[in-house]
Amino acid sequence: MIMNSKHVVLITGSSTGFGRLFADTLARNGHTVFATMRDPGGRNAKNASEIRMLAEKDSLPIYVLELDVTDEGSVGRAVDAAVAKAGRIDVVINNAGYYLSGLEEAVTTEQARRLMDTNFLGPVRVNRAVLPHMRRQRSGVLMHISSGAGRIVLPAVGFYCASKFALEALAEAYHYELAAQGIESVIVEPGAYETAVFGNSVTAADEARTNTYGAVKEIPAKINAALSSTTGNAQEVADAVLRIIETPAGERQLRYFVSPQDLGLNEINALSKRVQASVIEAFGLTADTKFLKGKAVGSV
Ligand SMILES: NC(=O)c1ccc[n+]([C@@H]2O[C@H](COP(=O)([O-])OP(=O)(O)OC[C@H]3O[C@@H](n4cnc5c(N)ncnc54)[C@H](OP(=O)(O)O)[C@@H]3O)[C@@H](O)[C@H]2O)c1
Repeated sequence: MIMNSKHVVLITGSSTGFGRLFADTLARNGHTVFATMRDPGGRNAKNASEIRMLAEKDSLPIYVLELDVTDEGSVGRAVDAAVAKAGRIDVVINNAGYYLSGLEEAVTTEQARRLMDTNFLGPVRVNRAVLPHMRRQRSGVLMHISSGAGRIVLPAVGFYCASKFALEALAEAYHYELAAQGIESVIVEPGAYETAVFGNSVTAADEARTNTYGAVKEIPAKINAALSSTTGNAQEVADAVLRIIETPAGERQLRYFVSPQDLGLNEINALSKRVQASVIEAFGLTADTKFLKGKAVGSV
């Protein structure tokens, strides 16, 4: 059993990008990390062994586990293995996800279903698996890696935005429902950062439909060029995640926008916080959702 760790953290999608950086940053700061990924013995064997070798070389408390967020059995096995080893899970970081680019009409329903299965239903499965443990502990943090695209909409990004808007709605509802049990649900909204995300993106499959759009069909390429020319250093997001995790229980905010550019997200979040507070009040729910006031939006 792991006794001296500050927090026990389970991260999804740790093979590359943010997830891998979060694992490294948190472990170097004394947290025990379950760096989960799909297929660590196959397609991610190289990533898994690099993480294991680094952990051994630098004596970091990082443990690689298999977890595919689209497979409920795999989620359950990883959560059980983490709890068996560490005795608890203090923080889960719902990070696994991918980007889908293309005009909405050209996205097939199968492509849309798969995207939602990972970006939205993935966190649903993970949260349902960890919550019984957190409830028993009467503490815990559900962290959701959303995106600026969880609050604003661009053409040719509609399905990715829809998956992140859906994730934000779920995470916000959890925030209100779980506060009374000492469990905090938080949302991190990164802007564009240098990771493997754009290389791993999926393109709308129905080219025949795309070709009917004239000049508008160039929008996905324009957006991709703009996104890749404005990316920030992903370590900024890892540092923000570390600060959020190290914030004392009960003091964490609902939303954190972390971005190299100010896209007006803080304005939307501040307005949303005010509107949500009055909606919650109008429904007579302020006492039930006790963490709402003053905690719905923040920066790190
Ligand atoms: N980079 C940005 O600019 C940016 C901005 C806002 C939000 N985000 C969000 O940040 C999160 C991490 O993305 P990233 O930028 O770090 O890109 P990335 O390097 O492509 O990482 C995505 C991770 O998700 C994993 N994943 C995909 N499907 C999975 C599944 N079914 N089960 C488990 N893991 C799965 C990938 O694993 P495999 O190696 O197995 O494919 C990979 O480890 C995503 O949710 C993304 O939407 C990124």
